[in-house]
Amino acid sequence: MGKEILHVVPLPSSYEFTEGTCPEDLQENIRENIGMIHDDEEAYELDITKDGVTITGAPAGIFYAHVTLQQLKLQYPDAIPCMHIEDRPRFKYRGFMLDCSRHFLPESDVMTLIDAASYYKINKFHWHLTDDQGWRIEIEKYPRLTEIGAQTGEEGRRSRFYTKKQIRRIIGFAKERNVEIIPEIEMPGHSTAAIASYPELGCTGESIPVETGTGVFANLICAGRDECLAFCKDVLDEVMDIFPSETIHIGGDEARKDHWKNCPYCQARRKALDLPDEDALQRWFTDQILCYLNSRGRSGRVWSDAFTGNDLTAERYSAQFWVSQVGNLKYQAALGHELVNSDTAAYYFDYPYRDEFGLGNYGHPINVDTILNYEPVPAWLTEKFAKQMIGTECALWTEHVPDLETAVQRLFPRLPAMAETAWTVKDARDNASFDERYIGTAAEFEKRRLRGQAPQELWH
Ligand code: ACM
Ligand code: ZN
Repeated sequence: MGKEILHVVPLPSSYEFTEGTCPEDLQENIRENIGMIHDDEEAYELDITKDGVTITGAPAGIFYAHVTLQQLKLQYPDAIPCMHIEDRPRFKYRGFMLDCSRHFLPESDVMTLIDAASYYKINKFHWHLTDDQGWRIEIEKYPRLTEIGAQTGEEGRRSRFYTKKQIRRIIGFAKERNVEIIPEIEMPGHSTAAIASYPELGCTGESIPVETGTGVFANLICAGRDECLAFCKDVLDEVMDIFPSETIHIGGDEARKDHWKNCPYCQARRKALDLPDEDALQRWFTDQILCYLNSRGRSGRVWSDAFTGNDLTAERYSAQFWVSQVGNLKYQAALGHELVNSDTAAYYFDYPYRDEFGLGNYGHPINVDTILNYEPVPAWLTEKFAKQMIGTECALWTEHVPDLETAVQRLFPRLPAMAETAWTVKDARDNASFDERYIGTAAEFEKRRLRGQAPQELWH
């Protein structure tokens, strides 16, 4: 007989049952010993005894002990068996990315998803705020970004962007749940909404509409004119005023260079800098922005397809990968830069659970087994550089996700499965019991306004 399974996701590093049970009225008798254990502010110990509960850890660890206790109360609504839990995360970075450009979600829905993610010990919320289909963050110096760039999406919504006041509320809400928000402002690509608002940001200067279709577009911020770089820095100044996170994401993915190739300003810049091609020009542009963030005490994050060469001068930045570029990523790790794994093969939750329609080429179907069986530290990184992989992040792109209910279907139970691979240390993993444990925790969903998780026949 194996040990009784706890309905806890992610599964703790270790747990031991002891004698007796703790009745409901004594479960509120909680002693908190504040103090870091295992040199990890998220680690905790949870002791459930006949006369109450004792929690030990730094404030983040204490928060997670309470989350675990909440899940145990669902499993044992009357008396919880006495036990001793010792728990700590495998990775310090356990992220969830939400695209609020393609479809805008109101403040309360964003909070609902952050709350649900924190219930599975996710600690980073990567907020994709700008793209071709919508600019969703108020920038005071450039009001047309939201007057024009945010007017896509559901008709009749009072506003389709987040004011600074709303964003500060969401940051505070997340912080109470040990979630840090990392904002993403895309540049130079995925910038149609910005260029629709201020045509002079583009290479052609032509007026264009905000995109409503899907795809990869050639509307890049012009790299040739100083005013365009100044715009990016001005926007980031306001972003840094609102968001306290050390990391600021500047996108950089899928920058199609058609316009840059034909732009006299971009070509003049490229020649003046003696750069061989437009990819090198993007690296120069990215480096300018990364150095600027460094000068303001922040560290930039880029999608790793933004730089395939080795010529960045910025000291502090990190790379998030979605498509594998083994050589480049290894090189960045060897330079001491941190990596975040968002491999499309396991962590793109806009992809279907299974290839229901025989579309084979539409990404890779990703079900719970795909996620649980995926090893976040790729073998190619080698042991020497493995610690540069700080964790994993699942992405919810929202071209086909119009509302909260659809988002919940895409995310649950895949987000909890990913959280388990990011939190639970390898030796303690138990994939076989995942469904039973997850279903136990999900009894909480009604209370948290979460409806519409994926039907169970799609999970495996
Ligand atoms: C990406 O999926 N374009 C980062
Ligand atoms: Zn240009």
